[in-house]
Amino acid sequence: MQGVGPGKSYFARDPQGRLVGYTEVYGHPNRPQVIHQGATGVRPEHRSVGLGRWLKAAMLERILERQPQARFVRTGNADSNGPMLRINHALGFKPYVSNVVWQVPADKVAGYLGED
Ligand SMILES: CC(C)(COP(=O)(O)OP(=O)(O)OC[C@H]1O[C@@H](n2cnc3c(N)ncnc32)[C@H](O)[C@@H]1OP(=O)(O)O)[C@@H](O)C(=O)NCCC(=O)NCCS
Repeated sequence: MQGVGPGKSYFARDPQGRLVGYTEVYGHPNRPQVIHQGATGVRPEHRSVGLGRWLKAAMLERILERQPQARFVRTGNADSNGPMLRINHALGFKPYVSNVVWQVPADKVAGYLGED
């Protein structure tokens, strides 16, 4: 990772080389002070043994080492995602911006349009 540029990922593999988890970061070269840590995922059969936390922490360590201009790391977390909330609290993330996603079922919209 030389700068975080368009995006970098860490992958965890089991002894047979199968992918079991990953995390990713990305940023904009014109704004090196802000790094975004995007998705993190661990296969269900490997969860709750610390892999997700380790992946995110290892990536944060790498950012500190290789992107000295970084001042903030941002990440996202659904309020309903207990495991990731736990990881993010443990790593020192604090709420910064929240957003609300609205959803409507497509068949309801079709009903409004008189198509049902
Ligand atoms: C979120 C995710 C990456 C966590 O991976 P993981 O390897 O299981 O994470 P860890 O084991 O490092 O830590 C999970 C922590 O949450 C805890 N936990 C598990 N289920 C929980 C729940 N329902 N509510 C609250 N905490 C929970 C675990 O006990 C553990 O905490 P502890 O180590 O202090 O005991 C994994 O659940 C996943 O891939 N989910 C689907 C993808 C996703 O939602 N990604 C996040 C958004 S990008």
